[in-house]
Amino acid sequence: MSLHRRQFLKSAGLTGLGFMLPLSACQPASTSKIATVQGPIEYDLIAGPAHFQILPGVTTQGLGFNGGFPAPVLRGRQGVPMRIRLHNQLNEPTTLHWHGLRIPVNMDGVPGPSQMPVQPGETFTYEFTPPDAGTFWYHPHMNSTEQLGRGLVGGLIIDEAEDPGFDTDLLLLLRNWHLNADGSFGPLSIKRYAARQGTPGQTFSVNGQLLPEYALPAGASVRLRVLNADNTWPYELSLTGVDSQILALDAHPVSPRRFEGYQLGAGMRMDLGILVPDRAGQTFELKHRHQVLARFRVDAANQPARTSLPILPKNPVPEPDLATAERQFFSFEWDAATDEQGRSLFWNIKGAVYQRPAFCSNANLLATLERDKSYLFSLRNNTQYPHPIHLHGHAFKVLESNKRTLIPHFADTVILQQHEQVRIAFVADNPGVWMFHCHVIEHMAMGLAGMLAVI
Ligand code: C2O
Ligand code: CU
Ligand code: CU
Repeated sequence: MSLHRRQFLKSAGLTGLGFMLPLSACQPASTSKIATVQGPIEYDLIAGPAHFQILPGVTTQGLGFNGGFPAPVLRGRQGVPMRIRLHNQLNEPTTLHWHGLRIPVNMDGVPGPSQMPVQPGETFTYEFTPPDAGTFWYHPHMNSTEQLGRGLVGGLIIDEAEDPGFDTDLLLLLRNWHLNADGSFGPLSIKRYAARQGTPGQTFSVNGQLLPEYALPAGASVRLRVLNADNTWPYELSLTGVDSQILALDAHPVSPRRFEGYQLGAGMRMDLGILVPDRAGQTFELKHRHQVLARFRVDAANQPARTSLPILPKNPVPEPDLATAERQFFSFEWDAATDEQGRSLFWNIKGAVYQRPAFCSNANLLATLERDKSYLFSLRNNTQYPHPIHLHGHAFKVLESNKRTLIPHFADTVILQQHEQVRIAFVADNPGVWMFHCHVIEHMAMGLAGMLAVI
């Protein structure tokens, strides 16, 4: 597969069923640097049963968007409205959440604070204008162990208002499947694992393929968008055989630095920049620990070799004022607990266990924040398992850890390693009631979640 940027843009909207071609993709690939699209950029997404092949030669009956896996990669543009119609053809209610987008709460897809569940047979239209560019993703926010676990996850790319000019732009969606040899699903959650690191799958995939190989043109500037869309797994990523730079974390540009390995928890994203070596035939590999996830082969050049990577412009995220920020402390804890129905609730935030979505009530409220004020949160992991902690509706600045040197950056998800304390700060500028939770889906489902109100 050759992934020259124009071909990729054209095909990006065409995976899955044919009809979800976004309007923007109907424009000729832009040669000018200025966006001319006014939008809205429209998509239709059908959530329903899907057949796809992950293991060679056997079919998996899962759930998917528009009938297959991987889901269509949605492509928007910073500052341009999007309109996405969700058609629910599942046999249970669902919603869609746009992970990482700083948009109004009524479009955030959390049942309760955002909207009523979308019932089977119903359609719900999401409309928003993404303020930030970068790599995001979308997934339901109901019955997530099953709905995400069986395949309802997809990539969402918001292009910069002005094209930074990479030659090749490639999304790598990481997933680890819980499959039996015949392609059927094994259990998505096993209690003894749910009480620990989460139930791991056994089958590593990238864009739904086992160990895919991608051809990259010699001398090209490449943007690799790595997305951990797994329910559980904290990937420990490296790229061997080529030099690369970390350009962005969770959509937000960082000052570029050499990529020497990074732990990407569930829900997190990392954009890497590569100047492809000018030697056709050379290969390099993306790895999780020793496991090769994807391979890249250098193809013949189709233009003179680039000498530098494009620079990504910052997103318009407000800088928190650390001098005046109000401090709050949150601990993430383990406890052997059950609810009235005997359901296990192993996890809590500062002793508070998330129960079920709350409609018009203050249940699960961890804190009330004053709009436009800066906050400095200390997040302490009092357990021996990593927790990727995610905040909806905002981007926070990751400041420091008591255990390791962090890259200061804006993010929507930060991984807390075992017994680690991390400080984050942000301006609570988006009014609403927002979820704050661990993105290991079983941890969230078993209590490790709560709400922050911004009023
Ligand atoms: Cu990926 Cu509550 O989100
Ligand atoms: Cu989210
Ligand atoms: Cu967790």
